[in-house]
Amino acid sequence: MFRTLRSVLRFRRFEFSARKRRLATAANIQDLRSIAQRRLPGGVFDYIDGAAEDEVTLARNAKRFGDYVFDPRVLVDVSSVDTKTQILGKERPLPLILSPTGFTRIADPEGELAVARAAARAGLPYTLSTLATRSIEEVAGVSGGPKWFQVYVWKDRGLVQEMIERAQGAGYEAIVLTVDTAVLGRRERDIRRGFSLPPKIGLDTIWDGIRNPGWTWDFLRSEPIAFANVVGKGRLGGDPVSLSEFVNSQFDQALSWADIEWFQRVWKGPIVIKGIQSVEDALTAQSHGIDAVALSNHGGRQLDGAPSPVELLKPVKQAVGADLEVYCDGGIRRGSDIVKAMALGADACMIGRAYLYGLGAAGEPGVDFVLEHLAQGVTRTLALTGRPRLRDLDVGCLRQ
Ligand SMILES: Cc1cc2nc3c(=O)[nH]c(=O)nc-3n(C[C@H](O)[C@H](O)[C@H](O)COP(=O)(O)O)c2cc1C
Repeated sequence: MFRTLRSVLRFRRFEFSARKRRLATAANIQDLRSIAQRRLPGGVFDYIDGAAEDEVTLARNAKRFGDYVFDPRVLVDVSSVDTKTQILGKERPLPLILSPTGFTRIADPEGELAVARAAARAGLPYTLSTLATRSIEEVAGVSGGPKWFQVYVWKDRGLVQEMIERAQGAGYEAIVLTVDTAVLGRRERDIRRGFSLPPKIGLDTIWDGIRNPGWTWDFLRSEPIAFANVVGKGRLGGDPVSLSEFVNSQFDQALSWADIEWFQRVWKGPIVIKGIQSVEDALTAQSHGIDAVALSNHGGRQLDGAPSPVELLKPVKQAVGADLEVYCDGGIRRGSDIVKAMALGADACMIGRAYLYGLGAAGEPGVDFVLEHLAQGVTRTLALTGRPRLRDLDVGCLRQ
């Protein structure tokens, strides 16, 4: 009995890093979400995880991928799988871009710096949000990888111009104009919790903090969180505000197609429009000389009842052809989702929550985990479907 027992007993070496211990228990992005949910205060987790109104669009974004199944081919030589692709004229190892997420330091004190470093290691473009908690220059200082800057259009156009010029000066390669946020979607989890940015400290927050000591300790030890790109500009960047109060008072609701020319004058480089939700608007973007569109409903955080990006891919790509790059942003949790989107005509995919779950669960190594998990997932799916190169993909690879 002892001989048999001895032959099978294997103890894992003790891992001293708590982050690595947490990651060792995760097999996928859903697991990271569960770890982040346990680790982050409820209000913080809900800010990341939540969406608008009944969250129908949030659920549908991910669920729609399940409506497509592969049409696999076997006995194909898949000994070498190629996941490389061109994004805005540059070769990237994977058709993946990290979407902008405001207030990233809420998940981990390193915030945008951690995400930008992980993206640079993976050779993937990282999009810094206007509402970031690390500045354009701080991020450029830690990442030599490809960086894009996301623009929200404030009423104060001088402020927008100044940020765009700073991004140009700091070597960002493209701007991403987000156009689905004329007013803020009604995020009811945040309303119930009275969530503000930065988080206010009240009795409920203190209790939440006691229940989540790891996050609270990190939060209290790091410098105060603020909107780093606009701090010190008037009433911006300092006191706690609700996001809706902030967005609805600062963003330009009059923004229209007529303003695109202004951006083309101010920014010397590729422009991506993020938040396109119809074939008609994709065609209008193309007629304005835009380089790429991100089909996106903001991860379900804006208009509840919006179409899912994955279901728009085929008609949009058919309408715009090869000249306009089309990205699929929303609901991507697995490499197989990326492969499905590419088969439907995407030129690349974008992820938001996936990397935030990784960051909230285990900091920077958590983001590395997510990017590696998705890269492996794409490679494995291409091998198992018998399409060893991304360029082998087309709608014929899927059944609906
Ligand atoms: C916490 C959070 C903050 C976000 N902040 C921004 C932002 O500042 N600017 C922007 O264009 N999109 C923002 N988004 C939307 C993402 O860029 C992206 O469109 C969305 O997360 C994609 O869906 P997914 O989370 O299912 O991947 C945010 C999303 C989340 C979850």
